[in-house]
Amino acid sequence: MTDQKVAIVTGGSSGIGRATAIALAKQGAKIVVAARRSKEGDETVQLVKETGSDGIFVNTDVANEASVKSLIEKTIDSYHRLDYAFNNAGIEQTMTPLTEQTVEEFDQIMNINVRGVWLSMKYEIPAMIKSGVGVGGAIVNNSSAAGIIGFPQMGIYIASKHAVLGLTKSAALEYAKSGIRINAIAPGGVDTEMVGRLTEVDKQWREKLTSMHPIGRLSNPEEIANAVVWLLSDKASFVLGHTLLVDGGIVSR
Ligand SMILES: NC(=O)c1ccc[n+]([C@@H]2O[C@H](COP(=O)([O-])OP(=O)(O)OC[C@H]3O[C@@H](n4cnc5c(N)ncnc54)[C@H](OP(=O)(O)O)[C@@H]3O)[C@@H](O)[C@H]2O)c1
Repeated sequence: MTDQKVAIVTGGSSGIGRATAIALAKQGAKIVVAARRSKEGDETVQLVKETGSDGIFVNTDVANEASVKSLIEKTIDSYHRLDYAFNNAGIEQTMTPLTEQTVEEFDQIMNINVRGVWLSMKYEIPAMIKSGVGVGGAIVNNSSAAGIIGFPQMGIYIASKHAVLGLTKSAALEYAKSGIRINAIAPGGVDTEMVGRLTEVDKQWREKLTSMHPIGRLSNPEEIANAVVWLLSDKASFVLGHTLLVDGGIVSR
């Protein structure tokens, strides 16, 4: 990566997104941090700048088409190109029996986790093509181990993360010849605010989640960021439509 590259990180205001924004900045990329919380987004930009690179925060709701369109326009206005995108924004589901889950919850999770990734790619890809990235443009979508295995009482989240893989593979095939590589990562449990929120609802959640991992611990966000940086980089130049497990062995059980 060189200091000419520009990367969008959705959900860059915390957790995996923030760690990836910093990791990409350390490689010299300029970072566009996209999320809804401005204070936290600005904090990520500050951390990006501390690496010696540059960044901006764009207040974005990935579920909203006008908001995503505006994110891409602001990126091009600021940096005149787009090379990389990490479509990472997502929300969790609290464990609830299927029969008690609501249509509102279904729509909210699907709108952010699935529509958000689809909308992001819909506007990022033309911007990358217009930037003339040729061989070297790349997108990584954040699925989950939940995109591969089932889990009781979390079917909406599980379905949303399976859908991210379907979108990733289809887009990867569609744009294979454009020079833009599109891949996904599938993290296992990562110690972020998301796990914290689930642990507030079920005090045993962190312990239960940890015990599912053969490696015996959760990952830290930086371990996921390392995988994203590699997938986006030219070192992964022949990797396309792939789902990279970074899961502490959870899917191999
Ligand atoms: N933690 C895990 O165990 C784990 C495992 C596998 C996959 N993942 C996936 O990793 C991704 C990041 O999660 P995390 O663990 O880092 O948790 P997190 O700290 O809660 O991060 C979620 C990020 O998504 C953003 N976001 C949520 N809704 C959004 C929307 N409508 N528009 C724009 N941004 C939105 C949040 O920012 P704002 O609130 O500021 O908008 C936040 O930056 C998610 O897709 C999650 O499903 C997490």
